[in-house]
Amino acid sequence: MPAELTPVEKAKFVAAKKAVEFIEDGMRVGLGTGSTAAWMVRCLGERVRSEGLRITGVPTSSRTAALAREEGIKVVTLEEAQWLDLTIDGTDEFDPDLNLIKGGGGAHLQEKIVATASDQMIVIADAGKEVQHLGAFPLPIEVIPFGWMTTKALVEEMLASLDVLGRETTLRMNGEKPFVTDEGNRILDLHLGRIGNARQLALALNQVPGVVENGLFIDICDRVIIGYGDGRLEMRDLGTGAVARERVDFVEPANVFTDLGN
Ligand code: 5RP
Repeated sequence: MPAELTPVEKAKFVAAKKAVEFIEDGMRVGLGTGSTAAWMVRCLGERVRSEGLRITGVPTSSRTAALAREEGIKVVTLEEAQWLDLTIDGTDEFDPDLNLIKGGGGAHLQEKIVATASDQMIVIADAGKEVQHLGAFPLPIEVIPFGWMTTKALVEEMLASLDVLGRETTLRMNGEKPFVTDEGNRILDLHLGRIGNARQLALALNQVPGVVENGLFIDICDRVIIGYGDGRLEMRDLGTGAVARERVDFVEPANVFTDLGN
């Protein structure tokens, strides 16, 4: 592994490398979005090339689709795959019950659809993503462009009656222009600080007209793999409560480590 990778990037790689070991020949796999998921796609591409692994990938964004194709992974739509064996994705936060905040990369709508259509979801994360209570990371909600300001006002009004610390909402920008999702929608980031009841909030947000989907993943993730910059990793399985620890070998083919620019 090149020395220029930061400890956090090494941690992401370690988690990603371990996660692809759960992929078996013939599987249909949901491919997450973000810098951690990008490591996973690269590691999976390496397995496809070196082992002739035959898998079908369903990407959760146009970015991931492009990377997967570059890596020689067969890409199909969710309509074609219909149901998946496994989804592997990153996260912005995870709590002790493996509930998540996702959408920092603006892809949580497709990510949630794909993860929900999977037998299993494995989340890969560096240790900095672990929290006791969700909410320090701004919660993204995808909203349709029509009437988005009204949607924003309705969301703020609704937040006043819920157990959250902060209530500020901001339109996500991409430079001077609003950020646009793969579905042509906008993202509102909710600066909540601390979410008292994530399940209630997730349900309430999706009741507001104009909200397409929120970034709370409740009861979707089955296992988390936490990577550390020194090669250690920890795996927690929600169903069994099992915790396993090991160490990943950093000696890898050079092409896995080319700059992902992600
Ligand atoms: C994208 C996501 C990502 O999984 C999340 O933002 C984590 O990204 P990274 O691995 O780059 O920290 O939800 O919508």
